[in-house]
Amino acid sequence: MNRFSQYVILGELSLNGDIKPIKGVLAIALSIPPDQYAGLIVPQNNAKEAAITGHIPVYPVQNLCQVVYFLNNPAALPAIIADKTTLSSSPPCYDADFSDVKGQVFVKRGLEVAAAGSHNVLLIGPPGSGKSMLAKRLPAILPDMTQQEALEATKIHSIAGILKTNNGLMATRPFRAPHHTTSAPAIVGGGTYPKPGEVTLAHNGVLFLDELPEFNREVLEAMRQPLEDHHVLISRANKTLQFPSRFLLACSMNPCCCGFLSDPQHRCTCSTHQIRKYLSKISGPLLDRIDLHLEVPALSSTEIMIGNPQAESSPCIKKRTVQAREIQQERFRDTGICANAYMNHRQIKYYCSLDGEGKKLIRMAIDELSLSARAYDKILKVARTIADLAKSPKIQTNHLAEAIQYRSLDRQNWCR
Ligand SMILES: Nc1ncnc2c1ncn2[C@@H]1O[C@H](COP(=O)(O)OP(=O)(O)O)[C@@H](O)[C@H]1O
Ligand SMILES: [Mg+2]
Ligand SMILES: [Zn+2]
Repeated sequence: MNRFSQYVILGELSLNGDIKPIKGVLAIALSIPPDQYAGLIVPQNNAKEAAITGHIPVYPVQNLCQVVYFLNNPAALPAIIADKTTLSSSPPCYDADFSDVKGQVFVKRGLEVAAAGSHNVLLIGPPGSGKSMLAKRLPAILPDMTQQEALEATKIHSIAGILKTNNGLMATRPFRAPHHTTSAPAIVGGGTYPKPGEVTLAHNGVLFLDELPEFNREVLEAMRQPLEDHHVLISRANKTLQFPSRFLLACSMNPCCCGFLSDPQHRCTCSTHQIRKYLSKISGPLLDRIDLHLEVPALSSTEIMIGNPQAESSPCIKKRTVQAREIQQERFRDTGICANAYMNHRQIKYYCSLDGEGKKLIRMAIDELSLSARAYDKILKVARTIADLAKSPKIQTNHLAEAIQYRSLDRQNWCR
């Protein structure tokens, strides 16, 4: 039998006979029926990625001569067989740590809560207060990806051609920070041959929209579906494609147009009307999906100079978020959701009941802060996560009080 037809051969053949790596090898490898082929011949730099599937022998090659030689002498090349245990135990690698961030204890705690319950978060503060720095550190305090999550992320990054060469399964959660000038198709995906957009590249990781009000309204509208459904549908004339897009959304913004509304060192020059107009840019579907609003104040001179020698490292914080997620996994075992942020109204009612004290406190908050019904549900979800971080089966008054603090934009006095 013709040996050539027993193998699937992938690669980009260059004119001198070299075989160069290609995009999407993992997805292709997963779609090969193993009982119909003897193996998969791939470019050297795609070999680890192809071997992740573990169901078909993978033969790495560098040039056409090697392919011909191998087809004539199948024993000449050893197959790479993925070792599932090494694949899953490669530790994630984050190049930035929370201990680098001076001060901002309140914000760090808020981000811990966000990571613990998978809550979307908005950081509000003057330029240079550290919003981008803080958001960048969020993936490192999320629990490690499960093997399934890692496989999904690897497949997407492979198809997009941004998987690091000759890496196996991705262990580090993605962090995507598209610029505010990025077009809607680049954010949600599209093109004649549909390509995954930023919301899909951020799947199982963090999507950071820096300077949120600067994004085009069309982009913010387009975010509605991925935030609601955790996938995007891309329709073309003859078919509809579905890309996964479950991510933690982190956004940042200045408190007003000039940026200094909440800064004691600088005078804000905006009128109330200007501030209202600025804030109105982000109202609507996106703000509806954000559970926590965190104010990030400018650092004082003492904080800048002395820093915070005892600041906790990301792995320390992560230990607590992992524990809180374990509690949530147990709670939602048969419900199809995995974290508090995904609770629907009925589940909130069931899992976030309050005692008399708690009810009194939240009634006071509703009256004083004019909270909407939506904000009320968000406070309860966040309070549930805070209780989980404290390993408390019941939501206590202090958990609720902390959750109420994370709703800055609901406060009526935001515009003075
Ligand atoms: N809390 C902080 N601790 C340490 N460095 C900080 C802090 N806040 C800001 N910086 C420094 O200032 C720079 C600008 O911060 P950045 O995160 O870009 O601010 P923002 O996004 O709020 O405008 C950072 O790269 C960092 O060097
Ligand atoms: Mg920034
Ligand atoms: Zn201002």
